[in-house]
Amino acid sequence: MKKLFGLILKILGILFLLLLASGYGFYQYLFEREPLYHEVEIPEVKANLDKWQDQKFGLFMHWGTYSQWGVVESWSICGEDEPWCYRKTDNYAQYKKDYEALKYTFNPSAFDPEKWADAASEAGMKYLVFTTKHHDGFCMFDTKTTDYKITSPECAFHENPKANVTKEVFDAFRGKDFMIGAYFSKPDWNSEYFWWPNFPAPDRNVNYSIEKHPDRWQSFVEFTHAQIDELMTDYGKIDILWLDGGWVRPLTSMEVSISQFVDGIFSDVGYTQLHIPQNQDLDMAGIAAKARIKQPGLIMVDRFVEGEEENYLTPENYIPDTYDPRPWESCITMAGGWSYSPDAQYKPARQIIHALVDIVSKGGNLLLNVGPAPDGTWPDEVYERLEEIGAWMKVNGAAIYASKGREDFKEGKVSFTVSKNGSLNAIYLADENETQPPSEIVVQGLSTSDDTQINMLGYGKLNWEKVSGGLKIIIPDEVRKNPPCSYAWSFNILNAN
Ligand code: GLC
Repeated sequence: MKKLFGLILKILGILFLLLLASGYGFYQYLFEREPLYHEVEIPEVKANLDKWQDQKFGLFMHWGTYSQWGVVESWSICGEDEPWCYRKTDNYAQYKKDYEALKYTFNPSAFDPEKWADAASEAGMKYLVFTTKHHDGFCMFDTKTTDYKITSPECAFHENPKANVTKEVFDAFRGKDFMIGAYFSKPDWNSEYFWWPNFPAPDRNVNYSIEKHPDRWQSFVEFTHAQIDELMTDYGKIDILWLDGGWVRPLTSMEVSISQFVDGIFSDVGYTQLHIPQNQDLDMAGIAAKARIKQPGLIMVDRFVEGEEENYLTPENYIPDTYDPRPWESCITMAGGWSYSPDAQYKPARQIIHALVDIVSKGGNLLLNVGPAPDGTWPDEVYERLEEIGAWMKVNGAAIYASKGREDFKEGKVSFTVSKNGSLNAIYLADENETQPPSEIVVQGLSTSDDTQINMLGYGKLNWEKVSGGLKIIIPDEVRKNPPCSYAWSFNILNAN
């Protein structure tokens, strides 16, 4: 019997590998499944979502007490034997105590959100998503629901006039016309209603039986609703409620994958995240309805829980292979991890700019993450990257903002976006050592007319020639020797379809 079972498992494994090898990729499979994305029907939300889709480039920030140790956000207190939960200790109980004690010493005395907002705005970013509470449960806002918060009298920073950092960050970025997003973790590893101290917590999920202890779960639901209500009430206009921790979800939604976009963690769907399936239902529809009384246009992002409250899709550290007309955003780190690390390796500006172009040409937004240091500063590399990106955006913004992607999003080294007036932007992505644009660029699949015009962003009108099936852009020496920017050059093509 056992042997037969083993054999069946083996056959299933081989079939799965064949499916992957067949090129019919997992993500593609998930993309094509229905139902996946629910169209937004509330007019105020739809209007805000359309506006958000035009912004294209946002800033993500992961900041919390964990930043003091320069370790991964929250995960080092999670009981799973996974590489992202790694901790330097052989005594978990002591480690967790020390981790929780980080609240006493968190003191970001150089915190200057205006400086961040200035730099992000100069880089061309248009919206913000900030960790108001990560999985560890530490509130970066002045909640009344717990004392595990930055404004607690026990926290070193509490007397600072800017102690309610969420409010300060939101105000500073709103002052630069950013759309404002509150990242909020549904799981809360500090709440006794989620990880009941009566039991050990074996993994990321609730650690008691909800069926046996419905009142405790109900208390967690109320606690979560109360915290979200505070954020929706006392922090000005909020555009996005970005809810992380997709494994906290109603049991009925579990047949649908929770990690359709997360690269390479297919096994998690079957193993880690769903390992003790429970009905972790937070009444998301209730949260949305209550929140929208105060924030009528609120975009809900209940990540990976396919339903009414996932108003846009959030591939994580991953850019989909194809164009997708549904609203989506890739969140991607600027350095290795989400949280601050003293020895982080920052991605070069060219790579980030190319990722932005690739995402926009496929119809999405880029949410680029920065991890602030424990003293409230950003590392120099962050400013350096943002400055380079800003220089590029100042020249090429017209090919990015308010543009749409396109089914044929790329041809060779040229990515395409479509502007609101219907003109096409051809963005040539330079190789690593390519500092000058080529002398000519051919774009296929276009029919030209006498009215066709080519405009190089940051320079001006260029000549072009008709070629079979398209056109050839001619780039004069003068521009090649002195290009308007580095890493990628944009050509607006008017009156050619
Ligand atoms: C992953 C990480 C989580 C992080 C999130 C950001 O899910 O586990 O810690 O906040 O990515 O998208």
